[in-house]
Amino acid sequence: MAEIGTDIAKAVAYLCSGGLVAIPTETVYGLAANALDPVAVAGIFEAKQRPSFDPLIVHLPDFSVAELYCDRIPEAAGRLANRFCPGPLTFILPKKAIIPDIVTAGHPTVGIRIPRHPLSLGLLDLLDFPLAAPSANPFGYVSPTTAWHVAEQLGEKIGYILDGGPCEVGLESTIIDFSTKQPKVLRLGGLSLESLEEALGQSLEVQGSSSNPKAPGMLLKHYAPAKKMVWEASPLDASDIDPTQIARIRFNTFWPGEDPQHQFLLSAKGDLAEAAGRLFGLLRELDKSDYALIRVERMPEHGLGRAINDRLQRAVSI
Ligand code: TXA
Ligand code: MG
Repeated sequence: MAEIGTDIAKAVAYLCSGGLVAIPTETVYGLAANALDPVAVAGIFEAKQRPSFDPLIVHLPDFSVAELYCDRIPEAAGRLANRFCPGPLTFILPKKAIIPDIVTAGHPTVGIRIPRHPLSLGLLDLLDFPLAAPSANPFGYVSPTTAWHVAEQLGEKIGYILDGGPCEVGLESTIIDFSTKQPKVLRLGGLSLESLEEALGQSLEVQGSSSNPKAPGMLLKHYAPAKKMVWEASPLDASDIDPTQIARIRFNTFWPGEDPQHQFLLSAKGDLAEAAGRLFGLLRELDKSDYALIRVERMPEHGLGRAINDRLQRAVSI
């Protein structure tokens, strides 16, 4: 089992010898390796059982070094970086040859992100290479928001888990593609669409779900617990299931007529940021519980509610 701790020097030692280290970020925990070392990066795909067609995000200590790894950084991307980095935003930009093809799954673009967590920023400052890091979960499963979530599923496969406490945001970063003429959102996430549009002074196209998305991780079925989960409003016939076997995930109010004991509020005070921070931990808990079915309420469709609904849509059984 991987050691869990807060020793940055230990993390540096593992990474410099081509090993894997789980790192905390404000969004979710990442599974990191030297982004410039194709063999180390192959270890990430192996540990996660991630298909090689799904590219990784490259993490940097500061957006000012992005020009070492990317070509043609548009002025608008720089503006967003000034405003939101470090923070839950990933930029897709044309890559330079120094980024190995395995990182980008052969794409001519690379995802760049500056994580907002003091331990990981401290780590990146000490390294002379950037870190490729997907979320630290087996492919297709819910992303980890604590060091223990990582240890439970990938603890046998990695060297060290840098423990930065529970993730502040709890949803993966928003991804914006700057490799095309008009910027486009490829994944809704921890930075709201409204904030991006306001900062850019334009409305943004958001890529919808598909079975062949431009961000290959955005498959229709992803971020999913093993347990059957359906929308509260779905017409599923659950009459053969004992009501005490059904867990309900709700935003801020209980479903009337059913026992509150089997209902889980994401934010009693109706705060979407709090709901986002709780979602993945709750999905993991319910996955381990004895409940037979999860019914989940749709969140309000604004701010982080949109990103939560996006994740839930991919997690519900189709
Ligand atoms: O918040 C986050 O973004 C976390 C933390 C660890 O930084 N990382 C994360 O990585 O969520 P991952 O690999 O689980 O999801 C990254 C997504 C995938 O859907 C991938 O297909 C997409 O980003 N992506 C990466 N590089 C891309 C590229 N060059 N073009 C299009 N999509 C890309
Ligand atoms: Mg992921």
